[in-house]
Parts: sequence; structure tokens; C-alpha cells
Amino acid sequence: MKTVTVHASKQYEVRIEDGLLQKAGQQILTVSKACSAVLVSDETVFSLYGATVQKSLQDAGFTVHTFTIKPGEASKSTATLVKLWEFLAACNITRSDLLIALGGGVVGDLTGFAAATFLRGIDFVQIPTTLLAMVDSSVGGKTAVDLQHGKNLAGAFHQPSLVLCDPTALQTLPEEIFSDGMAEVIKYGFINRPELISMLENQYDITDIITLCVEDKRDIVEQDERDNGCRQFLNLGHTLAHGIELQSDYTVSHGSAVAIGMVLITKAAIKNNLCTAETLDVLLQLLNQYNLPTETQFTCEQLFEATLEDKKRKGDFITLVIPTVTGKSELKKFAINDLPAFLIKAWDNT
Ligand SMILES: NC(=O)c1ccc[n+]([C@@H]2O[C@H](COP(=O)([O-])OP(=O)(O)OC[C@H]3O[C@@H](n4cnc5c(N)ncnc54)[C@H](O)[C@@H]3O)[C@@H](O)[C@H]2O)c1
Repeated sequence: MKTVTVHASKQYEVRIEDGLLQKAGQQILTVSKACSAVLVSDETVFSLYGATVQKSLQDAGFTVHTFTIKPGEASKSTATLVKLWEFLAACNITRSDLLIALGGGVVGDLTGFAAATFLRGIDFVQIPTTLLAMVDSSVGGKTAVDLQHGKNLAGAFHQPSLVLCDPTALQTLPEEIFSDGMAEVIKYGFINRPELISMLENQYDITDIITLCVEDKRDIVEQDERDNGCRQFLNLGHTLAHGIELQSDYTVSHGSAVAIGMVLITKAAIKNNLCTAETLDVLLQLLNQYNLPTETQFTCEQLFEATLEDKKRKGDFITLVIPTVTGKSELKKFAINDLPAFLIKAWDNT
């Protein structure tokens, strides 16, 4: 088993191994004395893995309650959160009990926020089942629900007690959702991990890839748990991706938008003499390899408008993550007024 220990405001382990779903109960016993566990999942994931995890929890002595939501971002809402809170109250869940998120980032973010707020905070465990959730959302303690005004607007920092990654769960993941997660993996490569890029270009073991990404996320979270400094590196491609998602009314998936966002920011960096031209070739080749899009029909003006609403903007300034060479990026602070002149060059195909 690969184990990555995260030393944040709470110390916890991310354990990565094939077959962990069947052993979830025993694994969780090593970090929890809870009597009752509430297993939260979406209907798709629950139908695939719910019974296995539930049995494992019961065999380990937990009284198990199950709560399922409809799959998809629409469930990461205040309405679902209230239902979950009421369910926890109806099950007489106490502060020493436990929530368990079994699913992708939607289930993880919702369950984490319920755990952060119910009875002013109870423990929770993440069992991520998408690639994105394994390499990103299950680690680091960001929890949230969406509001009508935007994604992740109500949330809390609340670290899990344990993260259990079973890579065999990825076998049932639809190809396009796997690709979405790959966009985030490729992102780690271009932030600061040239060896990850080489691995992706060749034969790789998915457990090794997940472990490398989790280690990188761990390093960032340990330095900047509350997202005031280097955690911003994780936003590579995300400012423009946010614009693409918004302009497309969320018909372009997050991973696809991140892929296009990384291409645009790399092109802008090259045209502004901040990045080597070869970096774009490597990026395009990898994105093609994983069936991710690299172009958008939106104009620079349309995407710029959306960046003004980005919650990462601080007053008249915004920090962008700029690739400088293959496998290395830097943070660069821009005055909002200077941003269009910098970005427009990404649309210049000469
Ligand atoms: N907290 C964080 O730090 C953080 C970071 C990045 C993203 N996020 C959030 O994560 C969410 C996206 O997460 P996601 O991409 O995992 O989406 P998701 O949770 O919606 O899952 C995608 C789809 O895959 C299905 N699925 C999940 N696991 C499966 C499996 N093993 N086999 C078959 N189908 C499976 C789900 O039912 C769902 O339909 C967004 O809400 C985003 O805001 C949070």
C-alpha cells in the first residue's frame, strides 16, 4: 500500500491500494472509534460499490446508515445539504460518529461540508471513486456547496480523518470522466513535475500517478492550507476555464475547460516571452492523447468578462499561474486593466 501523510491543521493519511473498498471498514477502524457511520454516495456509485463498502463497515462493527443523492453537480446544493443535515439528526448522529463520502468530488465536497457544520463539526472519511477526486478534491480539506450565484460559494475548510483510494474503482468510470481527471493530472505535471509528464507520455501505473499527484497536493496544502499563497498554483488553467464553463452554461465539463485554459495561458505566456515554445507542443500532445479539447469558440473578451467574476480575483488584481518551461510554472500578479493585452495574444495564431 502507498501511504501519503498530510500534516495540515489535522494530520491524516491518504492510503492508495487496489482492493481498499473491500477493506474500508478495517481501515477506518484504525482512525475512528465511531459507533455509527453515515455512508453518503450518489446513486450511480452506490449501485456499483455501496453494498461492498457497507458490508465492510458492518463487518468492522459500525452501525451503517446510507444517504444517496442524484449524480451530478446539481446535487451539490443547499437543498441537498439541508436534507443531509436532517437525515443526520434523524439518525441521532453524535459528535463521535462519522460521515463517509463514497464517490466523486460532488459527494466529497457535500459530505465534507455537512461534516464541517453538523453539530459544529464531526469527522469524515473520503473514499474517492473518480480520478479527479483521487488526485485532487479528496485531499486538502476544501468542502463546499454551490449557490445560484456560483460554484463553491458556501463552504468550509475541514480536513478528512482518512482518505482511501482504490484505483480499481476507476475501471467503471466512463471514458470522458476519466479524461476530465486526466486534465488535473496533466496540470500537476506542468505546475512542477516534469517526471509526471514523461510518465504520462509512456506506459504508466495509475497507482504511481495518483500517488505523485497526492504528494504534490500534500506539499502545497501543508504550506498553504487556506489558499492564500502557493495553493494558487493549483489554479493553472482555471481562471480561463472558469470563463469557458460560465460562457458555455456549464455544457463544457470542468476537465475540458481546464485543458483549454492551460493551452490559452501557455500560448499567452509564449507570445509574451515568458515561456518556451516547446512547452505548448508537449501540452497539446498530452491533451490529445487523453482526448481533451484544446480550442474554444469563445473570444478573449468573453472570457475576460468572466474572469472579472472569478472569486480568486483580489480587488483590482488577479494572480495567474504562468507556465515558464515544460514542468515548471510561476505565479504572476496582474492589474486587471493589464490582463486583456496579455491574454489577447493567445488568440493570435500567427
Ligand atoms: N474540494 C476540492 O478541493 C475540489 C477540487 C476539485 C474539484 N472539486 C469539485 O469536484 C466536483 C467534480 O468532481 P468529479 O469530477 O469527481 O465529479 P462527480 O462527483 O460529479 O462524478 C462524476 C460522475 O462520475 C460518476 N462516478 C463516480 N465514480 C464512478 C465510478 N467509479 N464508476 C462509474 N461512475 C462513477 C458519478 O456518478 C458522476 O456521474 C466539482 O463539484 C468540483 O467543484 C473540489
